[in-house]
Amino acid sequence: MSSTLRLAVIGGDGIGPEVVATALDVLESAATATGCQYEKTSFPFSAAHFLETGHILDDADVAELRKFDAILLGAVGGLPNDPRLAGGVIEKGILLKLRFELDQYINLRPVSLYPGIETPLANKTSADINFVCVRENTEDLYCGIGGFVRKGTPHEVSNQTMVATRFGAERCIRYAFELAKTRERKHLTLVHKTNVLTFAGDTWYRAFQEVAEEYPEVTTDYHHVDACCMFMVSRPEVYDVIVVPNMFGDIITDLGAAIAGGMGIASSGNLNPDGAAPSMFEPVHGSAPDIAGKNLANPIATIDSLGLLMRETGRIQGDTAAVTCGEQIGVAVKKVTPQFAGKSLDRSGFGTDAIGKMVIDSL
Ligand code: IPM
Ligand code: MN
Repeated sequence: MSSTLRLAVIGGDGIGPEVVATALDVLESAATATGCQYEKTSFPFSAAHFLETGHILDDADVAELRKFDAILLGAVGGLPNDPRLAGGVIEKGILLKLRFELDQYINLRPVSLYPGIETPLANKTSADINFVCVRENTEDLYCGIGGFVRKGTPHEVSNQTMVATRFGAERCIRYAFELAKTRERKHLTLVHKTNVLTFAGDTWYRAFQEVAEEYPEVTTDYHHVDACCMFMVSRPEVYDVIVVPNMFGDIITDLGAAIAGGMGIASSGNLNPDGAAPSMFEPVHGSAPDIAGKNLANPIATIDSLGLLMRETGRIQGDTAAVTCGEQIGVAVKKVTPQFAGKSLDRSGFGTDAIGKMVIDSL
């Protein structure tokens, strides 16, 4: 079945608009080749838009975005020391607001060493670095619960609360088991810190044990997050699927991006897997204002995120043409990466649009 997929596009700040534009060129070619129908609408939400208009993203904007099938986001955030953006107003006001309001409870982050891409890990190959992180995306320290007492005095107190619900942990863990079940190795590792986080960690650990009973075909393991950081560097081959709460997931997926070649390649999806609201796809990298507008940014992470968008959205909508289109984009990316052999991914010397053209040519 095929339908017209409605895509909301938030280019954002810095390199966001240029990597998004390049990815959309790739989509245009892939959609034509696969007979996939889509339409796209752009939205200005960004730090730049906030500085210009005072508007970040309100409830009416969220309601508007809800009408779409999926969202593609480049990157949001301005210069790091601009005082008008202090306190993470943009990160909280756009990115986290959308993840929470649209209940995108899974942050899916593949860690896969593509052909030709160099890893900083000695003697490790694509066969060793091939796993997926399933990061919980709506709870934990990201709930923003906490505050100050006596701020600015020598007696200042601040706290910030880690939130774990049985419901939130269980739906994330269940998603990870379902994913593990479809993979060749069928191996799922829970990453937490149960030796110290004896409440939140315990909720996760028990949920994991109980859900595991329903998936006898999936083998399981548990690693503390500090040990996980060590294994990701020394023995990444032990991982197939990792399920992890939000804050630890944020940290280990940057490490994952680094071992798979860097931020130029790391893609992600903020998923509402039930399709109750649109999912949002974005490269893991930020807005990189230092290289913005210079045709230097590597668009691969965004192109790959868009491939994931088409596969996931196609699956939810039952649109096989969209799934095929997403698969073609994924295959085309892997055909292009060998051309990066011997080069750094982020400073390859290929321009943003040249890399886009390489992917289009290999479609
Ligand atoms: C990420 C980012 C965000 C996060 C920031 C920008 C709020 O680091 O997507 O990993 O912490 O989730
Ligand atoms: Mn992060």
